[in-house]
Amino acid sequence: MNNGLLERAVASALKIRENAYAPFSGFKVGAALITGSGEIFNGVNVENSSFGATVCAERNAIFSAVTAGKKNFDTIVIASNLDGKAVYPCGICCQVMADFNPDMRIVLVNSETGVIEQDCTLKEIFPQNFEFKGGR
Ligand code: THU
Repeated sequence: MNNGLLERAVASALKIRENAYAPFSGFKVGAALITGSGEIFNGVNVENSSFGATVCAERNAIFSAVTAGKKNFDTIVIASNLDGKAVYPCGICCQVMADFNPDMRIVLVNSETGVIEQDCTLKEIFPQNFEFKGGR
């Protein structure tokens, strides 16, 4: 992937994070999903007073892309800062990503410093995803 595209995705994840709705945890996350055709879809975490209704930034970015008719995902950039560190995606988001691309690239950026702290693959952090072919 060209660096300009990754740079734009990093900038958009940092900027969109400001729109996160996190009145309960105070923890804001921004995501920028890069499709195989080089488009960027954003997501933020949206919390709810019924806590289980909360949706993470990563899934909101993926659902937004799917809504737009995209299913070919290359990279997700995730911007956050928890006690000085960018966080990895949760297990539910990893499973959602894995259904589309188990080899997806994951880039974690620190929202305080703007520094990329991790650049890895979904396989590395979530090696044994659940696979269900269905059709019974
Ligand atoms: N959260 C995300 O948006 N992404 C993650 O990878 C981890 C958790 C959100 C959900 C909730 O709004 C807050 O962080 C605390 O769990």
